[in-house]
Amino acid sequence: MDAREIKQQALEHHIFGLANRQQLQEEGPFIFASAEGITVTDIDGNQYLDMMSTLTRANSVGYGREEIARAVYNQLVGMHYAGTVAQVAEPTIQLAAKVAELAPGRLTASFFVSGGSEAVEAAFKLAKQYQYHRNKPRAFKIISRSLAYHGATMGALAASDWLGQRHISEPGVPGHTRIPAPTCYRCPFGLEYPDCGIKCATWLEREIQQEGPELVAAFIAEPVMQAHGVQVPPPEYFPIIREICDKYEVLFIADEVITGFGRTGEWFAMNHWDVEPDIMTVAKAMTSGYFPMGAAITRKEIVDALPAFLHVHTYSGHAAGAAAALANIAIYERENLIARGKELGQYLLDALKPLEQHPIVGQVRGLGMWAAIDFTANKQTRAPFEDDTVRAVARRVRELGVLVSPIGTAVEMAPPLTARKEDVDRLVAALEQAINDVARARNLL
Ligand SMILES: Cc1ncc(COP(=O)(O)O)c(C=O)c1O
Repeated sequence: MDAREIKQQALEHHIFGLANRQQLQEEGPFIFASAEGITVTDIDGNQYLDMMSTLTRANSVGYGREEIARAVYNQLVGMHYAGTVAQVAEPTIQLAAKVAELAPGRLTASFFVSGGSEAVEAAFKLAKQYQYHRNKPRAFKIISRSLAYHGATMGALAASDWLGQRHISEPGVPGHTRIPAPTCYRCPFGLEYPDCGIKCATWLEREIQQEGPELVAAFIAEPVMQAHGVQVPPPEYFPIIREICDKYEVLFIADEVITGFGRTGEWFAMNHWDVEPDIMTVAKAMTSGYFPMGAAITRKEIVDALPAFLHVHTYSGHAAGAAAALANIAIYERENLIARGKELGQYLLDALKPLEQHPIVGQVRGLGMWAAIDFTANKQTRAPFEDDTVRAVARRVRELGVLVSPIGTAVEMAPPLTARKEDVDRLVAALEQAINDVARARNLL
């Protein structure tokens, strides 16, 4: 099949996911043929610098890592799949022990799954079962945040408010409510940090009281929210959340599906604020996308409170997935990717910051190797663009040979942790040019 045929087949037989149908017809599906390091080649032979770590931000270690492939191969040949629950293969246990070493504080017990949504479902069920066996047997409610994204399965979706998927799938799981999110550039309360008193955090107490403390099992939050681009909370936010959760015996679930494994310059983003969650969910960069894998990680005391965790997946702790994760983590350690990402992330943010002077840029923000440029049609009111200006910028960056992503009001970057300074320089130059080109073409300068 030639490239045109493959694209046509993709449209006819396969691609009907979240992608907008009209945009797909206009822009075509984006089909990759090969990749090496941090450069991908599409089926037309065009090469791109992948500054999104594969769109989903999973691929932290870059493409073509033979040692991960070999670890998966060896495991598949030796013992491809051992079963589930208490019948597992050795790498699964080694991975659990490794995760215990890396995860914050007392988080030493892992329940492995096949991705982020499953990790969130496991976390919710764990929280409810823990509460059942402890002091709050009726606790079933979950509080999340406006604009949150926790996954596509029904439980995770009920805690989500992003990508426009929720309403069409309702009625959702009962017992879910939301509080406003720390989206400081466009504060939901119309306040400014630091005079705001971190109202978005203290609001949690009000919500717990409103819902009935004895009925609330858990609060879930992304440490850094993806909605409208890399929403870094104020430093006081998570310590306040932790205090409120402790006061009402509400478990705090940190959803580190994107942020976990180094995206923000620490192994896990909660390390930035020295706050230990009760449960942490991870996926994506745990294997850098070389195998579908995730986990809900908790402390022993929570596991020990249950006679059994009543939850199971056929592929929980898959041996080849565990082998991939171990090989991936070994690369992180050998190449010092956490420290490297932290340093290069700061370099990226410093290089992007001057763009805040641009007439259509509202704010530049980021943490570690995750950054966003939030656009505005009016610097005074901070109003977002109502048209496709943001998408046009991302499209133009792609024409310049670099992959970034439009995300609501912003353009996002999540470079692999293996990127080099030259790559970041090229990214920033492409962004600058694209913003100027689009602004000029639309008379926005
Ligand atoms: C914070 C967060 N949680 C959960 C998920 C769901 O993960 P998955 O798509 O692997 O099911 C995502 C996916 O992007 C996510 O960003």
